[in-house]
Order: sequence, then structure tokens, then C-alpha cells
Amino acid sequence: MGRRGFLKSLPVLGAGTALLGGCASQEGAVTGVDRVLSISLGQAESHPSYGSLVSFGERLAEATDGRYGARVYANNSLGDQQETVQLVSDGAIDMAVISGTQIENSSPRFLPMNVPGVFDDIDHQNRVMLDDAIVGELFASLEPQMRLTVLGGYTQGSRHLYTAQGPIESVEDMAGLKIRVQESEIFLRLIEGIGGVPTPMAYSEVYTGLQAGVLDGAENNEVSYVTQRHYEVAGHFTLTNHLIGFDFLLANTDLLEGMDERDSEALRETWAQTQSEFVEIWKQETEEMTRQMLDRGVTITDPDPEAFAPIIEETGLSILEHPDDFALYDAIRAAAEGGDA
Ligand code: GCU
Repeated sequence: MGRRGFLKSLPVLGAGTALLGGCASQEGAVTGVDRVLSISLGQAESHPSYGSLVSFGERLAEATDGRYGARVYANNSLGDQQETVQLVSDGAIDMAVISGTQIENSSPRFLPMNVPGVFDDIDHQNRVMLDDAIVGELFASLEPQMRLTVLGGYTQGSRHLYTAQGPIESVEDMAGLKIRVQESEIFLRLIEGIGGVPTPMAYSEVYTGLQAGVLDGAENNEVSYVTQRHYEVAGHFTLTNHLIGFDFLLANTDLLEGMDERDSEALRETWAQTQSEFVEIWKQETEEMTRQMLDRGVTITDPDPEAFAPIIEETGLSILEHPDDFALYDAIRAAAEGGDA
């Protein structure tokens, strides 16, 4: 059976199963509910977003009295992010976690959220992502054409550089280094700006790319670096803090519109609660992963902020062109602590 054929069969998982003594969770899935929603995730089961999505499914089952639950498909087993955006749009998958820099390819309106420095920290980011006045229209903007609803998402925390050969302290050290980036214009400009050679590649291929020497390095947060075991093949981590990323949770719009109103409301509420809780989980995991990096002998370099920060800021802002982009950027900045614009 082809992938699409297989995917078509997903929504019936668990359908019609009688509620036997409540809902239990098995291999990322809530069992014993009427309708199991499929959720695609690029991360390994050890990444905190996996556990959080599993508990979202359990809460959803409770909040809808067993009418809906969820099954989380980790490790991009349903397809890489670019592919799963389309599959959610088609309704072959119910939901997917998609990096902001990948959504930027479906709609440039999301670009301001990917600009380095737009968020002061993840608390600021979370406030913005839950503020309907700032994001409501944007989150609904993919509905008419693509049938995609953005429900919110998870922070990716601060992203940093890491390399195989040696520590990076300056733009000079980056000369000629092939650095994996997501398939995204902002990342191409960013890596070029700081002297490297950007190499777009899917997340699932980065480990082998580093191992085979096709890549000299990559960039990500501490949690992905450890849970993807990239430290095994690129042991030098440089704290560039170049971008606070966000993973959006997308749902198929027809699915949401086809739900009974109390169920779709329960889904949105359950999700908002899950999203907010994740911020604290993320902070703890980042600390824990940093400890693990040190235990595993990773070299962590904290470069002079002047080495990269001015170039990163300038490159980031260079991507905004449309007046709406600047308006969203300014609204996000105004929601920063102290409300600077
Ligand atoms: C992070 C992020 C993912 C993204 C990945 C990447 O892990 O959470 O959504 O796919 O970075 O660099 O591709």
C-alpha cells in the first residue's frame, strides 16, 4: 500500500471501539475512543513534545467524554514536514507539528515570527501565540485555500550552531562550513550572513549528513541536538542564540468544522492548556539537556555577543518587505516586557 493509501486508513483506528473502563494510552495513542486523531511529529519519542502530545490526546478524550482521542506518529514516520503540511491540507492526516520556518513556505505572512530578535524570550513568545488580537487572523489565514487551521504550537526555544571539526567563535571560523538549514529563506540568509554555506536538508537526514561529512555542522536547540543524538557526530556547540523558533500545530479545517461545537471548543481549550504548560517543561528540558551535553563531553562555546548578534539582527530584518509584515512585527515587539516597539 502506498503512503497515501496507508494514511487513508488512519482515521478509522480505534473507531467504533467501545469505551471499556475509560481511555488508556498505548504507543502514543489513546485507545477506547470513538475517533483517534492522527498527529504527525518530526521528533523522537524522547523529545518533550512527544509526551506532551500524548497527554493532549488523553485530555482530549476526557474532555470529550471519549468521542475524540489522538495518536502521535513520531520520527516523521508519516513524512517530512513539507510533505505532511500537504497531507493535513488534504485531510489524509488530521494534525501535524510544523516548524515556523517551513510554514513560511506555505504563507510568507508567517515570516515576522521567524525574524531573529522578534521574541525576547519564550515567555514573550508564548504570550504572543496565545493572544488572539495579534495572531487570530494570521492563524486562520490558511483556512480558505489550504484548509489548514493553526491551533498554536510549541516553543523551539533558542537555536544555536554546532559543528563537527572545532569550536566556532567568530564569523572567520565559519568560512566555507556547510551548515544544514531547514528549507527556508530566512535560514539561508542567516547562515550566509554569518559566513557559512547554508545546505537545506530535511531534519531526519541531518545525522547521516553530519556522519558522512556532507555537512560540517547544523543549528538547533539543545533538546533536538541531544534527542537526535547529533552530539555523536558534531561535538562543538556554539551559543549563537540566533532565533527563538516555534513549532505550529496545524489541524485540517474540515475536521474542526465537522466536529460538534462543544468538542471543537474542548479541543482548542485542551490544546491551549497543553501549550502553556509546555513552556515550563521546555525550560527544564533545556537545562537537563545542557547537563547531558556536558556529561557527554560536548564543547560548549559562548562567543562574544558582538561576534554574531549585529549580523544576525540585520540579516533577519532584511527579510521583511510587506507593510503587513512590519505591522505584525511591531505588534509582537509591543507585547514584549516593557512593550518596546
Ligand atoms: C527543531 C524543531 C523542528 C524542526 C527542526 C529542524 O527540532 O522543533 O520542528 O523540524 O528543529 O531543524 O528541522
